[in-house]
Amino acid sequence: MTASPGKNPFRPGVGTRPPFLAGRDGSIKRFRSVLRAAPEQPANMRLTGLRGVGKTVLLAEFAEQARGANWAVATLELRPPHNKEQTLLSDLMPLLEETRRRLSTAGMIKKAIGDVGRAVGRVGLTYNDVKVTYDSSQASTKTGDLVEVLLETVREATKHGREGFLLLLDEAQAIRDDRDSGGQHSLSMLISATSSIQKEAIPLGLVLCGLPTLAGNLLRARSYTERMFRGEEVGRLDVPEATAAFTEALKLTQIRASADLVENVVAEVEGYPYFIQLWGAALWDAAIDAGAEELSMDVLRLTTPEIYRRLDLDFYEPRLATLTPAEQDLLLASVVCSYPPLETIEMNGSIPKSPGNINVLLGRLVEAGVLYRPRKGQYEYTAPKFREYLLRRNK
Ligand SMILES: Nc1ncnc2c1ncn2[C@@H]1O[C@H](COP(=O)(O)OP(=O)(O)O)[C@@H](O)[C@H]1O
Ligand SMILES: [Mg+2]
Repeated sequence: MTASPGKNPFRPGVGTRPPFLAGRDGSIKRFRSVLRAAPEQPANMRLTGLRGVGKTVLLAEFAEQARGANWAVATLELRPPHNKEQTLLSDLMPLLEETRRRLSTAGMIKKAIGDVGRAVGRVGLTYNDVKVTYDSSQASTKTGDLVEVLLETVREATKHGREGFLLLLDEAQAIRDDRDSGGQHSLSMLISATSSIQKEAIPLGLVLCGLPTLAGNLLRARSYTERMFRGEEVGRLDVPEATAAFTEALKLTQIRASADLVENVVAEVEGYPYFIQLWGAALWDAAIDAGAEELSMDVLRLTTPEIYRRLDLDFYEPRLATLTPAEQDLLLASVVCSYPPLETIEMNGSIPKSPGNINVLLGRLVEAGVLYRPRKGQYEYTAPKFREYLLRRNK
């Protein structure tokens, strides 16, 4: 009898940690150096990238690294309702409260087991006397509330011997300021609260992670955000990295892959981490079902239709399903245009809708996170290989 092949090692999913985290050493190194430079240099980072490229996984790794560097951390995934200042605040408040509670429980346990360690040395570090100010004419009335809870959390963190407090927000493209001054300004509130605290060299850090739209949203909220955040693009993996992501995962099992199979898969997935996991998982299942001990080109050929079915169903369709028929129409029609990027001028000339209508729909597709606007008059899909998917749909 052959040894059991083990469990499927691949992890296609949302934010699921891969068996082998490929190609992120540089990002992790930069993040650690940002932490080390704090608080004199604010520990802020902006992580952006396409869907499925591995942002959430990297954000979790950052949280882990920060914990390892003795920072208190809290993570929240933002959603469109957080565009309302009050909603953002009412979700941040309990999160920060929970963080403080965990800190003081950990502190009590440490005391009980006699390890007061750094806490003693750090008691002197207090900013109860430092006055944090913010420009109230520019900021939302709720900014003060946010400053207060953030300060309280940093204070609790340092009181218990931590270097500081790091807040990590995923899907941060979900919040963007309303254009009119009477509207909602969640993003500005977050930025001004953070920067006013950091101006006093208080060790608060902020990591914002999201689709490429996030960068523009930040600039529109406050122009100084360009200097406030260290930008980090989470991109696709290069060939050796993608190969390692695939083959290192397999090493955890008894199943092997032929060299030509690996080469073909790596070429097909174009370095996109989600695709690597999806291809791997499907191939692995197919090989096990067939009783094969090697992933070969034959397995790939026979499995490819099923892989694309799963890809469309799991990765692309859930996004499309939330759109209105008119928004879907525009997307499906956009395949006649050259890409990348989609140019408004070309769309207006080749899509049978009025320019005004196209403009409105494009705006809504950006809000829905399906498109982003790298430059004025230009749009790109937020999911990799999305045009190929639309072409399959149009068939
Ligand atoms: N560096 C990596 N190497 C291998 N697989 C990865 C890597 N980063 C992410 N993945 C895998 O890619 C998929 C998408 O990751 P996720 O973090 O959810 O992407 P995003 O947040 O950018 O949409 C998951 O299945 C995850 O296991
Ligand atoms: Mg994510």
